[in-house]
Formats: sequence, structure tokens, C-alpha cells
Amino acid sequence: MYRINTNYQKLPGSYLFSTIAKKVAAYTEANPDKTIIRLGIGDVTQPLTDPVIKALHKAVDEMADGATFRGYAPDLGYAFLRETIAENDFKARGCNIEADEIFVSDGAKCDSGNIQELFAADSRIAVCDPVYPVYVDSNVMAGRTGSYDPETGYWSDVIYMPCTEENGFVASLPNEMPDIIYLCFPNNPTGAAIKKAQLQEWVDYALKNGCVIIYDAAYEAYISEADVPHSIYECEGARECAIEIRSFSKNAGFTGLRLGYTVVPKDLTCGGASLRDMWARRHGTKYNGAPYIVQRAGEACYTEEGKASIRELVGYYMENAKTIHDGLKSLGYTVYGGVNSPYIWLKTPDGMSSWEFFDYLLDKAGVVGTPGSGFGPNGEGFFRLTAFGTHENSEAALKRIADL
Ligand SMILES: Cc1ncc(COP(=O)(O)O)c(C=O)c1O
Repeated sequence: MYRINTNYQKLPGSYLFSTIAKKVAAYTEANPDKTIIRLGIGDVTQPLTDPVIKALHKAVDEMADGATFRGYAPDLGYAFLRETIAENDFKARGCNIEADEIFVSDGAKCDSGNIQELFAADSRIAVCDPVYPVYVDSNVMAGRTGSYDPETGYWSDVIYMPCTEENGFVASLPNEMPDIIYLCFPNNPTGAAIKKAQLQEWVDYALKNGCVIIYDAAYEAYISEADVPHSIYECEGARECAIEIRSFSKNAGFTGLRLGYTVVPKDLTCGGASLRDMWARRHGTKYNGAPYIVQRAGEACYTEEGKASIRELVGYYMENAKTIHDGLKSLGYTVYGGVNSPYIWLKTPDGMSSWEFFDYLLDKAGVVGTPGSGFGPNGEGFFRLTAFGTHENSEAALKRIADL
């Protein structure tokens, strides 16, 4: 008789987004004449850029012609894309990353969820609190996290690293020793960025203690300040201790098109085993690659025209970030993020809980955000708004909040 992976039964329900959906549905039913402005989820609203669309059309035409048709892609992704990534995202920033250390995928979510397969079942993970939930949940499914305490919201075997106002939402080195450290900068949900010297401390710590860092840089394109690293490989020694995950979702608007990549350097070895070779083996066995036409669209992001169009797209969202950030600040809110990130992390006013503020904002302003407590206990008392809406909606949301 078959048995299931009972680790799945340990997962608490997707309380956050299902509760939000229910509350929004109830509000809509009770207020059919009112429009809702959604600044909750991290999905983009602007269409794909011209260079991307042109590349897609061209690649579709190639697929229609026997002479240029492509079937299965190479396991790691097409060389034209991997070489372009190595050149533009790494070598141009002084990072020594080769094309054969880059693994093209259909997005950062899958990679950040799957990467834990490379590590021993009894590895201890350390995560920031609050955190993008995929890192924890994928380890729950793999049986690494112990038991869940619904009272505290913590897993018994996970090391939590609080990200608070006091530490500027950049976690301090953990008190207990982890094996695997998940870091995400610029951060979802807090919008915090890490300075190069701070990230170097993490790399030094990992090297000294034999830890591996999974570095999620999905929001790299939003970095606007000079001393904020775009890649962990800007830090000395990172090739020996870090894996980096990137996405085309937030810079180029590929949330529906799907493209990302993971860097596993050849210097990352454990007991003589190459993690790069292990990840290559995994790709070869479990993955058949991002579509050719999408990889061509990804390549188009790196032409001069493509880079300019991405700057424009990111600039569009960052205008929203400024509108929301500065607007809330002038209304007296305590606001973080929004400078190197499309996320605005605000402190709920008058000691309201994250959910109380959610209800208040929905009921009184028809604006939907995300309660910070949904990302972890240290998110309590905070609220996330995204800059991924339209200019019109971002401005309208702010006006509604000002009118409260
Ligand atoms: C931190 C972080 N990593 C990864 C992702 C997922 O990216 P992708 O669309 O490439 O799967 C998200 C999406 O919201 C994210 O916030």
C-alpha cells in the first residue's frame, strides 16, 4: 500500500493569501459599487517591452520553419543566453562567473524551492524572519524543519534570524550554527538592501563555519544605491560558499513568461563533491528546460535596447515606490524599503496588528496590501505595499489613505 510524504501534512494552510482573498471577496460582496486597489501581491502590471516582444515573434517564426526549429533545449540552457548572462550580470560587475556555472530555469521560485535537494536531510536551515515563504515550506516538504508551533508560528528545527527596525531589517549572524543560510536582498517583504561590507560578513561566516548561502537576488534590478551589491559574487570567497538565484520576473516583467537562472560555481564543493555537477545532474534528470522562445526573449533583455527598456520598466515601478513611500511618510507613517526595492514596508499606526491594519485599509479605503505577520512573527506590526501597480492606482491608493 502506498503511503504519502507526511511532511506535506505538517504544512499550515496557505493562511495568508487565502485569508486575504476571502476578506476581499466579502468586502466586494458588501460593497459592489466600490473599486478595490490591489497593492498586495508581487505581480507586475506593465506589458512586456518591445525588444522582448520582437525577440519572441522572431523565435516563434524560427519554430515554424524546419530549418530553424528547435526541440529540447540543452540541459543547462542555451549557450547564447548563458554566455550573455555571464558577461552582463557578472563579468561586467567584476564577478568571475562562467557560462557553465549558470543554469537557466523557468523562474526563481522553482529554483529556490528545489535547491534544498542537494543537501543532507538533517541539514539545519537558517532563514530571515519575516521571509519569502518558499524557503521554509520547501524544507518542510523535505522533512527538515521539525514540528510547527501554531502559537509562535515557528518550526522547531529552523533557525530564525529576526529582521527588525533595530537591525535595519538586515539579519545579524545567527546564535546557533546553521548548515544552509537563505538570504534574499533586496528583500521581499521588507524592501531592505544589504551593503557590500555586511554581505561580506555573511560570506566570511559561511566560509569559516562550512555553511552554504542560498542568495536570492530576484530584485537585483531595483538596486539604486552605490554600495549595495548586485551579486553575492562581488564578495570575496563567495564562489566557495554561495549559490545565487535570479529571475526575469521583476526586472523584465516575465512573471507570466517564466525565466530565471541559478548560479552554482565550480568552487562550491563539499567532501570532494561538486555542487555544480550535482545541480547539473538534477537538471538533466528532472528538468527539460525553459522554452527556446523564452530564452531568446531573455537574451533580448541584454541588448542595448533591451537594457534601456528594462531600466524604463524598473523606473516606472520605482516611481510608484517613491509615490507610496514619500506619500506615506508625509502622512506621518513610519516607512521602510522602496529605495532599492519595489516593496514598501510600513509600520502599522497606533499599535494596530498587521491584520487589524489590513481590515482598516480595506474597509475604509478599499486598498489591499499584505499583512507583515503573514511572512513571519517578526513581521507583526508591519504591512507590505507593492510598487507593481499602475501609476494611476498607486496615486489613487495614496490619496485614499490620505483621506482616511
Ligand atoms: C524573493 C523572491 N524570490 C523568487 C520569487 C519568484 O520569482 P519567479 O517569478 O522567477 O519564480 C519571488 C516572487 O515574488 C520573490 O519574491
